[in-house]
Amino acid sequence: MLSWDDAPNSAPLTGRVPPLAPPSAAPVAAFPILGRGAFDEHSVLVPQAPGQTTESTADSTADSNGVARRVRVDDKRVINGGADVNQLVPFKYKWAWDKYLAGCANHWMPQEINMSRDIALWKDPNGLTDDERLIVRRNLGFFVTADSLAANNIVLGTYRHITAPECRQFLLRQAFEEAIHTHAYQYIVESLGLEEGEIFNAYHEVKSIRDKDEFLIPFIDTLTDPHFKTGTPETDQALLKSLIVFSCLMEGLFFYVGFVQILALGRQNKMTGAAEQYMYILRDESMHCNFGIDLVNTIKLENPHLWTAAFKEEIRTLFLQAVELEYRYAEDTMPRGVLGLNAPMFKGYLRYIANRRAQQIGLEPMFATEDNPFPWMSEMIDLKKERNFFETRVIEYQTGGALSWD
Ligand SMILES: [Fe+2]
Ligand SMILES: [Fe+2]
Repeated sequence: MLSWDDAPNSAPLTGRVPPLAPPSAAPVAAFPILGRGAFDEHSVLVPQAPGQTTESTADSTADSNGVARRVRVDDKRVINGGADVNQLVPFKYKWAWDKYLAGCANHWMPQEINMSRDIALWKDPNGLTDDERLIVRRNLGFFVTADSLAANNIVLGTYRHITAPECRQFLLRQAFEEAIHTHAYQYIVESLGLEEGEIFNAYHEVKSIRDKDEFLIPFIDTLTDPHFKTGTPETDQALLKSLIVFSCLMEGLFFYVGFVQILALGRQNKMTGAAEQYMYILRDESMHCNFGIDLVNTIKLENPHLWTAAFKEEIRTLFLQAVELEYRYAEDTMPRGVLGLNAPMFKGYLRYIANRRAQQIGLEPMFATEDNPFPWMSEMIDLKKERNFFETRVIEYQTGGALSWD
């Protein structure tokens, strides 16, 4: 068993390992800076007191003899860390690694789900009402592009700025899950024979969808800007704000009207294949949201100077805007009551969720106490069932790597 408490550069016991390069050789620390992404290729940021931004050369990861020193837990930080991002262990952020493992254990693929009942229902002129069909089309209109935005945000933005390898490992898994979600929505569109042009262009053509995306885009642009770097209080706050918008407001709020609507259809035994896919997506998204909240809280803990009164007020304003945008989307997708749901019910639900997200990142609730009008949604997220809600398939999907071979 490896011990990470070994003294740095202790002599190899076997004698078969070549001796370490002498101090005069090319800097050993050149390798550890690969993949830092957000930083200059030839410099790294060393851990420092909050607010300090002094850059040092790559030799800062070497000892006085110019020999690379081993990664220490204390060197690791979620942002602006000085440790080699390519070394997963020693673990510091075990919660991120555990979420990565949980994500892998929940692996699923869209084409495993049988869509034949959905197809028959959709083709039956009396199968669904016009309002129910509008819900399905508007739902897919938002989601077919939303998960691609989420993937761009991770791959081209967030990943570059996070220096904890455990968190980067989760983000890689999350990026693939976003691809699976886009695949799932496409699979539903294709199965039902929906007009692709209408669905895939909805984020340009349907105002309530476009408004949600336009709210998000500046935060994606911040992180994906190749010139954006963390390391100052201002840029660290910009990163933190984007992370909060994504975890609490996109994955944690903007998805929820859509999830409730399709799962409400499923509860009435309609579109059960689509609803089953949304259940798996909901489970994934709730993991993404919780990971994002843990990430935000850890950054806050490591950088308390970022959590100023002015910053909190800015976040509060964004929450209020997001609730309003999602409510307008609810009105647009449900011009009349349908499936026992109506838009005003969602006003309470969105306030309930916004309060919960605010508290999860340490803010006061935004609204007076709100009850959850859809308690069955919590069961969908939290309940560990052996079989899924629609009794069609084993939900506790375990890949070979997660099985016990005893
Ligand atoms: Fe997703
Ligand atoms: Fe997600």
